[in-house]
Amino acid sequence: MSGFDRPRDTWNARYAGADFHFGTAPNAFLAAHAHRLPASSTVLCVADGEGRNGVWLAQQGHRVTAFDIAANGIAKARRLAAQRGVDVEFVVADIAEWRWQERSFDALVAIFIQFLAPDERDAVFAGMRAAVRPGGLLLLQGYRPEQVDCGTGGPPRREHMYTAAWLRATFAGWDIGHLDLHDDELSEGTGHHGRSALIDIVARRPGAALQPRPT
Ligand SMILES: C[S@@+](CC[C@H](N)C(=O)[O-])C[C@H]1O[C@@H](n2cnc3c(N)ncnc32)[C@H](O)[C@@H]1O
Repeated sequence: MSGFDRPRDTWNARYAGADFHFGTAPNAFLAAHAHRLPASSTVLCVADGEGRNGVWLAQQGHRVTAFDIAANGIAKARRLAAQRGVDVEFVVADIAEWRWQERSFDALVAIFIQFLAPDERDAVFAGMRAAVRPGGLLLLQGYRPEQVDCGTGGPPRREHMYTAAWLRATFAGWDIGHLDLHDDELSEGTGHHGRSALIDIVARRPGAALQPRPT
């Protein structure tokens, strides 16, 4: 069994130091597309690591719930939120055991959740789709199979990566407002660094566009 097969231990070890493995700045794709979220949206950040994305969304005024399997990551995320003076509901949880509640969030954010093998992915993505309210958004960035040749982040497992065809099929019936395949330099702490084969999607669940929530 490799470290990759023991994600809790592997990620707790990666997050054990004082530094933030992926930095404390939000993921650039998320920051560029967050303007699509109505004010005070309820947002679920899955596998949020050390909280750089969930905390930043809370700073933008959203109501954020975030979970990750690594307790060390969530502990640092809580400290980051406190430093920045925002509230985030952080939970230590394995995505395989997460209880997806139907139509419970205005938006769902999934940034580099490449740990899922193909046979685990369909059930998790079905849960994520169900959790988004009609008219709500899913924002996801991940790697394409070519990333394995770049070696600048992500597991060395081509089958874990996404293709445009797979994302289109997975979000069939949703309004895909953005689907981009691009090679770009990432500079996200020591975890993601260098030329990377990326794919990102913003998809809206069918339904009337959501209105800003009262603050
Ligand atoms: C590449 S990191 C991305 C972290 C975060 N989304 C970010 O962009 O900073 C992948 C994350 O997935 C988490 N993870 C791995 N397996 C998981 C599982 N089964 N359930 C929940 N989180 C998991 C890891 O702890 C790690 O924080």
